[in-house]
Amino acid sequence: MKERIEELVNLANKRISEALSGKLLNDVKVEFLGKNGSVTSLMKGMRDLPPEERPTFGQLVNEMRAKIEKAISEKEAELKKKEIAERLEAESIDVTLPGKCVKEGTLHPITLVKNQLIDAFQGLGFQIYEGPEIELDKINFQMLNIPEDHPARDMQDTFYVTDNILLRTHTSPGQVRVMTSSKPPIKVMCPGRVYRSDDDATHSPIFHQIEGLVVDKNVSLCDLKGSLETILKKVFNSDDIKTRLRPSYFPFTEPSVEIDVSCFECGGKGCKLCKGTGWIEVLGGGMVNRKVLEMCGIDPDVYSGYAFGIGLERIAMLKYHIPDIRMFFENDIRFTEQFK
Ligand code: PHE
Repeated sequence: MKERIEELVNLANKRISEALSGKLLNDVKVEFLGKNGSVTSLMKGMRDLPPEERPTFGQLVNEMRAKIEKAISEKEAELKKKEIAERLEAESIDVTLPGKCVKEGTLHPITLVKNQLIDAFQGLGFQIYEGPEIELDKINFQMLNIPEDHPARDMQDTFYVTDNILLRTHTSPGQVRVMTSSKPPIKVMCPGRVYRSDDDATHSPIFHQIEGLVVDKNVSLCDLKGSLETILKKVFNSDDIKTRLRPSYFPFTEPSVEIDVSCFECGGKGCKLCKGTGWIEVLGGGMVNRKVLEMCGIDPDVYSGYAFGIGLERIAMLKYHIPDIRMFFENDIRFTEQFK
């Protein structure tokens, strides 16, 4: 019997030493010490022995059980240690390897120019108003004194949604929305997206403008010139910038002007950028037409106003020397990431 017990202990030790994982070790534990394990069934066999042999036998089996238990718990500790060592090895970090860079995003150049202009205008006390991009014909054209037969209304130039609804062709409807909903003094800018059926190197079917509108008593063209000069100096980063007004025509301003800046590349001497003229055309504006003030419920004998519209793509193209307007909309990050 003693031999049989020894044999079992040896077998158990062999199986324990062969167990390579906690799970396998647990199988060994069940095999020997479990409810139906070999040690347990040995113990059960005790009733077949004569009573005088039972105590010795019991003691032997108990000793054997203790030995196996001890061996198992030693192996358990060993496996645990091994597992920790392996994890430390696997999860160790080589701090000498080069790090993984998180790619930093950049603001789109149009957003940059928009933010610069908004900053400059806010410094002069302008508030921001954003109107809808899908606009009524009445507000985009009629209330701005743009007659029915005006070429801009042509199907070729305007994206119509229905006969009376269209994608706004400029930010000037913002003027109408502000003037019909508030009383002077008014000092707002309306930044936003506008749409025209145009597509070439300098025209895009979608582009951006900022409208400016000031309505108060005694507002004159001098105010327009002064404010714009202040803003353009900031945007083109030069105190030497001068502005010049040339007569122009817009149905909603009278008189109307084109505003040029002295060339910030050559300082006015004449270069490639200004095509040798020393001046660059940057925006359109004028005094709000009396008819427009009247249609918006503002008395033109009491109030006057100036308005202007700046094309953001045009400013960005000049400022950053971008040759083709389509580059703004291609979303090629090799282009956009240059504006850090
Ligand atoms: N809305 C005009 C355009 O898109 C620009 C403009 C705005 C002109 C305000 C005069 C006054 O061309």
